[in-house]
Amino acid sequence: MQSSVARAPAVVKLFGEHAVVYGKTCVAAAIDMFATAEVSRTNVPAFTVALVDLNKKVEIDVDKLSELYRAYKRKNSFVSYLEENNQIEKELLPCLTIAAKLAVDFGADLRYTDVMVKSDINTQRGLASSAACYTAFTCALLKAAGVEFSDQEAIELAKEGEKITHRNEGAGRIDVSTSYFGGVVSYDSLHGAVKEDVNADLPLLLVDTGPKKSTAEAVGRMAELYNERSTYLEDRLTKIEECSSQGLAAIREGNLEKAGELMYKNHELLRQLGASSQNLDDAVQIAKAHGLAGAKLSGGGGGGMAILLIGNSSRTSEAIDAIEAKGFWINAAAVTQEGAKTRTKSRVAVS
Ligand code: MEV
Repeated sequence: MQSSVARAPAVVKLFGEHAVVYGKTCVAAAIDMFATAEVSRTNVPAFTVALVDLNKKVEIDVDKLSELYRAYKRKNSFVSYLEENNQIEKELLPCLTIAAKLAVDFGADLRYTDVMVKSDINTQRGLASSAACYTAFTCALLKAAGVEFSDQEAIELAKEGEKITHRNEGAGRIDVSTSYFGGVVSYDSLHGAVKEDVNADLPLLLVDTGPKKSTAEAVGRMAELYNERSTYLEDRLTKIEECSSQGLAAIREGNLEKAGELMYKNHELLRQLGASSQNLDDAVQIAKAHGLAGAKLSGGGGGGMAILLIGNSSRTSEAIDAIEAKGFWINAAAVTQEGAKTRTKSRVAVS
C-alpha cells in the first residue's frame, strides 16, 4: 500500500433532481468545493478511517472487513445492515464497506493503512458532500492499493457508500459520476451517466437557506406522493425532464438566459411537488426580482442550497444584499472541469 491523496468536487443539480429517481433526465455540475482523502501507511496491522470534520474514527482488523462485506452481500435491506452493524458508528460504515469490497473483490491488502477524509463542502445542504467524500476515499484507496480499475469500477465502488448513507439502491446515480468526472454530467435510466462535452462558464451563487431534510426522507416523501397521485406526479416529472433536456441544450449553446429561465421553471415544478421550502422560495424570488438569469433549489430540497445563475443583471449586488438581509449565507461558485484527482502523496501539496 502506497501513500496517496485524492480530491473530489461538490455537485449541484442544474436540472432534474427527483425526476431522476423515476428514470428521467437530470443535469448536474461539479463545483469548486472539494472533499479530500489521504492514505498513509502506519505501523499497525489494521485499517483505520478518520472522518475529520465529523470527529469520527475507527480502527478495524482486516478479517473483520471481510466479515463486514459478507454481511453487506447477504443483507435484506440497508436498514437491517445498519442495525446488524450498530457497533460501528453509522457515519463510518459506508467508508468501511467500500474498503471491505475493495479488499475482497479487488484483493487489496489494507493492513497498515490509514485514511483521513476532510471536506470543505457544507453538509446536509444538497451539495453531494457525502458523494464527494466517498469518491475521494475510493479513488485514494484504489490508487494506494495499486489496483487496476476502470472509471465505472471506481464509480460503482464509491456508490456503495451513497447507497448506505441514503439507504437506497439507486443513490449516488448522478452525484458520484459528476464528482468523479467533473464538469457537466447528465443522467437518465437509459444512458446512465454521461460526461457532457460542454465547457460553458456558468457563474453561480450558492445560497444556504439552512439545513435540509435527509435525502432518504425527501425521496421517501416523493414516493408517497407518487403512490397517492401518480398522474399528477408523472405530469410534473415529465415537465421537469423537459427542463433538463432543453436546459442542457441551452447550456451547450451558451444561452444562459434560456438555461436560467428553465431553472426558474424547474424550481416552480419542484415547489408544486412539495420539494421546496419558504426560505428556498424566498431566495429564488429575490433572484428573479433582481433580474438574475435563473435560480432553483438543488438536491432533495426542503431546505439546503438554492443555486442562482448570475447572467447579465446589473442588480446582482442588490440581490446579494437582499439575500444577506434575510440572514442567508451566500457565496460564489464556479463549475469546475476537475473531477476526482488522485496523486501519490509526495507530489501533492495538501493544505
Ligand atoms: C438528491 O441530491 C437528488 C435526488 O434526485 C435523489 C437522487 O437522485 O438519488 C433527490
